[in-house]
Amino acid sequence: MDYTKRIFEALNYIQSENDFQPEFGIILGTGLGALVDKIRIEHTIEYKEIPHFPISTVESHSGRLIFGELSGKKVVAMQGRFHYYEGYDMKQVTFPVRVLKLLGVKKLFVSNAAGGLNLNFQVADLMIIEDHIDLTKENPLTGANLDEFGGRFPDMSEPYERNMIDQALAIAKEEGIRCHEGVYAGVSGPNLETRAEYRFLKIIGADAVGMSTVPEVIVARHMNLPVFAISAITDLCDPDHLEVAELSKILAAAAKAENGMTILLQKLISLQ
Ligand code: HPA
Repeated sequence: MDYTKRIFEALNYIQSENDFQPEFGIILGTGLGALVDKIRIEHTIEYKEIPHFPISTVESHSGRLIFGELSGKKVVAMQGRFHYYEGYDMKQVTFPVRVLKLLGVKKLFVSNAAGGLNLNFQVADLMIIEDHIDLTKENPLTGANLDEFGGRFPDMSEPYERNMIDQALAIAKEEGIRCHEGVYAGVSGPNLETRAEYRFLKIIGADAVGMSTVPEVIVARHMNLPVFAISAITDLCDPDHLEVAELSKILAAAAKAENGMTILLQKLISLQ
């Protein structure tokens, strides 16, 4: 079936289940798991119930849409997101973003885990994504343009809304949360990078590197949806002093960053 038709079938199913009209969409990536507890949940829908929706392969992710109120605003949150390295193609990875837009969200909030390349960063710091470099292996906009969503050659001069970045930096300062702004390099994974690759990423201007977010942001911008995205710096990737990556350490760093990220997002959304 035609991709656009599948998007509308998913939308129709969700709208037949509840008439909740979210103002904001949130992709609960690493660091934002605890934000769920701050949402006054009105309704949830399992991904597996929604026609054509991809299903999460990562067991720790439940895979559902959560509709409710956060900081006095109506939100829809994706609990469980899709990565290219899991075997989905980029059109599957970004399918839910199209559906969120059609549900009426006015802004998209995204989080992720990333390796820190900037030597000023410490483990468990936050980095607000100010710009990105797409090094992924497939572009979600490849193929016939979906004219009903946006133009053929989407503008990328401000992929991340400047006003929200400034608001978030001010919140972090007020709250004493360690937070930077920087450039995120998006890669396909699943392997981490070699020392030569980390060196390359630093030279081309990246402050952090991770395996998500860029495809979702490209599709959001295709639809002219403003985006705010933030990384939890889970490990430091200094090519001259590279340590063996340990998943347990990465997860511990993500957990440490969670509290600050949750506060920051709650306050940022209250200002929109
Ligand atoms: N590379 C890519 N993705 C990551 C990293 C990294 O070093 N750390 C956390 N996510």
